[in-house]
Amino acid sequence: MSLQNIKWIGFRTDPTYDESNPDQPYGAPAMYVYKKFKVKKSIARATLECSALGVYAAYVNGNPTESFLEPGFTDYSKRIYSRKYDVTALIVGGCNSFGACVGDGWYTGNVAMVRRQRFGKYPLGFCARLEIKYRDGEVETIDTDAGWSGTLGAVRENDILNGETHDFRLPHSEVFTADYSDGCAVEERTADIVPQESDFEGVRLCESFKPIYLRRNEMYALVDFGQNMAGVLHTVVRGERGTRVTLRHAETIDKEGALYTENFRSARNTDTLILSGGEDDFTPLFCYHGFRYAELSADAPVEILFLEARAVHNELADTGKFDCSSQLIDTIYRNAKWSMKSNFVSVPTDCPQRDERLGWLADVHLFAGTAMYFADCDKFYRRFMRDISDATTDDGVADYAPYVGIFGHNNGGWADCAVILPYLHYRRYGDKRIIRENVEVMRKHIRASIRTAAGGVRKESAYGDWLNIGADTPKEVFCTAYHYYGLGLYLYLLDQIGETDFQATQEREKTYHAFRANFVSKDGAVYGDTQTGYVLAYTFGLIGEAEAAKHLRRKFTESDMKLTTGFNGGKYLLPTLCDTGLGDIAYSLILGESYPGWGYSIRNGATTMWERWNSYTLEDGFGDASMNSFNHYVFGSCVEWMYRYMLGIREDAPGFSRILIAPRFDPAARVTSANGEFESRRGKIRVQWTYSGGEYVFEARCPREVPVRFDFGDNAVRKSWQSGDEYRFRIDAPSFGAGAIGQTNKVVKRIVV
Ligand code: BGC
Repeated sequence: MSLQNIKWIGFRTDPTYDESNPDQPYGAPAMYVYKKFKVKKSIARATLECSALGVYAAYVNGNPTESFLEPGFTDYSKRIYSRKYDVTALIVGGCNSFGACVGDGWYTGNVAMVRRQRFGKYPLGFCARLEIKYRDGEVETIDTDAGWSGTLGAVRENDILNGETHDFRLPHSEVFTADYSDGCAVEERTADIVPQESDFEGVRLCESFKPIYLRRNEMYALVDFGQNMAGVLHTVVRGERGTRVTLRHAETIDKEGALYTENFRSARNTDTLILSGGEDDFTPLFCYHGFRYAELSADAPVEILFLEARAVHNELADTGKFDCSSQLIDTIYRNAKWSMKSNFVSVPTDCPQRDERLGWLADVHLFAGTAMYFADCDKFYRRFMRDISDATTDDGVADYAPYVGIFGHNNGGWADCAVILPYLHYRRYGDKRIIRENVEVMRKHIRASIRTAAGGVRKESAYGDWLNIGADTPKEVFCTAYHYYGLGLYLYLLDQIGETDFQATQEREKTYHAFRANFVSKDGAVYGDTQTGYVLAYTFGLIGEAEAAKHLRRKFTESDMKLTTGFNGGKYLLPTLCDTGLGDIAYSLILGESYPGWGYSIRNGATTMWERWNSYTLEDGFGDASMNSFNHYVFGSCVEWMYRYMLGIREDAPGFSRILIAPRFDPAARVTSANGEFESRRGKIRVQWTYSGGEYVFEARCPREVPVRFDFGDNAVRKSWQSGDEYRFRIDAPSFGAGAIGQTNKVVKRIVV
């Protein structure tokens, strides 16, 4: 079953709607399309497959299928997905009706800062096939065609960024019941469709949160859900017919206790209900908001019979667990996980609240290592790689995907996601399909990267080490380092499928020498002399351990032990410090509560990761509202370090077909225990350790059939036991730290991070 040759249908819900001005908050009312049919005999199975030019909510006999914002965010001019639902239980004997309410979505609604009609104009489109298998073996199909009906209903306005207006005096799910009579003819149209894998974990309404009422009277309520999230409100209200209820959302409140929405920029994040006079049950269908607080105000008294917040995200299976003796670290972990959920909405977005919500590629690759510990992101990232591919031209990879026409291509540290993401995916899941499916996009990226490098030095980076603290790494250092790293990953991945690339091999060699000759002084100082410069150069294999250790120790002494790294340096900072004998600094940073650092946001009440180290400071209040999100996952990339360094769970070969357990303890033993597990493709890996009386007791449990290697760095093993799949060690502590600095200066041309 596929929708490939099935007709699209649609009609103009408001023929007077002025499409000439794309800069308007809402479009025309949602489009309702439906079809009635009769079931004559007993059914074995009924499957509904549908897609939309827009976003749809599908119904069978008034019952919704479980989905949200389908078919999701893609470049509609290149790819539109369809999805299948088992609707057997929703079909009744005799008269039935099914169809969909279709909203503007990314297709013609507001997208990021580029306003409406990015991918198409009205009419919206719907395409579906209902396949009924009868018990006697007969198969009947009902497809969209000119024999369907269309109508208007309760959804009067809808926009992903701005919100939804729902008039309860008008029909909604009733449209999709067999006795609904009003209807108009629909037009046929065309568009290509790609079926989405049936086991893909789509966007859903997930966790629910109860409100704490901060203020309340009969026309007003201000509530706190205790968790910042991407989500929607679900409320049941009763009031006089025609009463208008406005729901506003915010990530935080200001000093006066009012919703702080300046950082939303043009996104209204406001839903409106017009009451029927009965009990009106509202959950928006075609938008989501970034919020923790909400305000409900009405123009006449109303009763709130029910109120909750529902988180909206792709429903991925959890694969990791972590906790340790530091409550602060546990909170960082938890906040990073919530920022992941909030930004896994169809594509990996930068933020869920302002008029942006784009799949920025640096953000994606910097966080992917963490994300794939938290949850099974296999299919999610495989799908996103197709979006990256759609956003790639001969000029290189765009800065984000799906591409909506603004900003650039081939920017160092961003475009490299085209090779970094498949690499991280392959290492984590060991599935070569990610390489084979992306050889072309990787090659295009590498070619564009080589073309814009002169003598191995590349400068194209519009962004550099994003949101660093007064420590810009020179673009040529930053970009050349990524160029070198990307070439190495690309060649490694090609090698895994038995291919090679002579030009890239030569370029890699050239880049290495160019980097060393142009940017590394005799004493190992990296041009620009920034923490990020050393961290990237070390991680990507361009300077040695002693060089990195010496200069990072100096840099941290000069900065009074404060970090200055932005997004890019930030991801590799803690691993680099631990690898170079500076684990004491790494642990001080993660345990610190002063500005700048992870703990500072938590001390100030964060429940998700902030975009900026100074998204809020006690001295200056809220950061620059023109770009300030309280829910950006990038700085949550430190969670990868928690798994790989605090617990030590690392792959020793792609897909954990060999396991490496290599913990790096806090040299000052401020963290005294850690616990965690990761559900790898080869089975569950569990680690638990505690510190007491000058030694660590370290226990691990690994899948029986998989070879395991242990590496405790400079900490000596006093005793070890193994019984079946359980391993136990007594380990000396503390022993590594400052003493190890500068003993080696291997420039290892590593590609494995
Ligand atoms: C996004 C970032 C992104 C950046 C590119 C911002 O607006 O929110 O996360 O990486 O632009 O510079």
